Amino acid sequence: MSQEKKQAIIRTTAIMCILFVLSFVTVVIGMMLTLDTWNVFGSYDKMIALTVAVFVLYAVFFVYLNYSSNSRSLESMSMTKLLSVAFTAIVIGILLSCAAGSYLSWFALPLAFVSLIVGILIRVRVGIMATIIAGMAVMIISPASEFGENTSVVVPIVLGCFTAMLSGFVMAFLIRKRYSRFKLTWGALIVSLAMMPFSALMSLLYTHDASVILINAVCTAMGNMLAVAVITASLPLYERVFNVWTDFRLQELITLRQPLLKKLNEDAPGTFSHSMAVANLAENCAVAIGINPYMARACGYFHDIGKSKNPQFFIENQKDGYNPHDELIPEVSVSMITRHTTAGYEMLKAARMPEEICKAALEHHGDSPVSYFYMKVKSITEGEVDDKEFCYDGPCPTTKYSAIIMICDICEAMFRAKPPEDMQSLEKSVDGVIKSRLTEGLLDDCGLTMHDLKLIKQTICRAIPASMHKRIDYDKAKERR
Ligand SMILES: [Fe+2]
Ligand SMILES: [Fe+2]
Repeated sequence: MSQEKKQAIIRTTAIMCILFVLSFVTVVIGMMLTLDTWNVFGSYDKMIALTVAVFVLYAVFFVYLNYSSNSRSLESMSMTKLLSVAFTAIVIGILLSCAAGSYLSWFALPLAFVSLIVGILIRVRVGIMATIIAGMAVMIISPASEFGENTSVVVPIVLGCFTAMLSGFVMAFLIRKRYSRFKLTWGALIVSLAMMPFSALMSLLYTHDASVILINAVCTAMGNMLAVAVITASLPLYERVFNVWTDFRLQELITLRQPLLKKLNEDAPGTFSHSMAVANLAENCAVAIGINPYMARACGYFHDIGKSKNPQFFIENQKDGYNPHDELIPEVSVSMITRHTTAGYEMLKAARMPEEICKAALEHHGDSPVSYFYMKVKSITEGEVDDKEFCYDGPCPTTKYSAIIMICDICEAMFRAKPPEDMQSLEKSVDGVIKSRLTEGLLDDCGLTMHDLKLIKQTICRAIPASMHKRIDYDKAKERR
């Protein structure tokens, strides 16, 4: 047996042991919350049976997560993080539901907490699966611990769980695309109201008492709102503890009060202005190809953060005609310029930024040459140049975000230096930028398709003229008056 296989078996066994302990803890606390008495250790047989049943559910979810983690959409998160986030949400969801069911109503279960928190932090489909697991666990723990052999009361519990699970699925569907705090609360309110008639229908399956039906409907809405309230309170904690970057946290990151951006603005105002322009282009491109626009904007903001270490070596920050490169040999100049990618990567890593942003800083020049100095030396030495000395260290873009930043970075700098004369020359230039990167192999590993590149080209061609619009010359207008 290979070493890798052995390690995988040991790892899986360790996870299974942890899941068994977690099942036991869930069952004990769940029983305590469901029973009127805190003394649950009198019924060992029930406890063991429930622990095994919940463990089977947890194991099924682990297998599902293990299988899903190989997909490209989940590969940015480690397995440990995936398991920690998902199982914390499942256990909290189960315990909250046991408490709400026992003290309020079995139709007031906040199971939507699980679908929303896992949906926001991981993926919606994982959130839906986690809700099914949590709902089934509540269905097993609650009736078994509270009512023993009196099975007639099991029906409202099962129907309440089913209604809460369905609410969770619908809410998870709401956050399928981008979301905001307003959309979350407003969506929860709409879903809560929409689920009331469904809850009433479910209640009709076991009672015709109008007051019970009405109370159950109101409780369903209350359970959903409770879920959103718990999410609003716990999401910032989840984000910090597990270092997960949600849209909410990314929105906080792209404010200009962020310390690294403040530093860039103060030390390298030219680079800061360039980064803002690249971020605008990148966000538009991200929307066009359907990836996270907040992440793209953040990548644009921070891609040249390494330049804040030695801003005067970059033309956009030079003042009063002083250029330090005039006093240096081209090889030294190139090393001063190319180090901004690795310096930026280290700064962003130290600040615990998302991996996509760190990679965009490191990869946005790939292993391309610093053209100005490369051409200068080539003309002096009549072509006898060691190419590698004039190139960035790479690597080439490995994410869609890095590739978008690479393209937008060149286009922004190119059109800032020489604005396009007309739409035709603009399209030709953008096309040239993309084609040359393709032929040089810089976009081989980034995951962008030819269709994505076509959309990116169209987006840049639409956005550039808008960013270079003309304004009235106020001095001339005054003279005319
Ligand atoms: Fe750069
Ligand atoms: Fe740049």
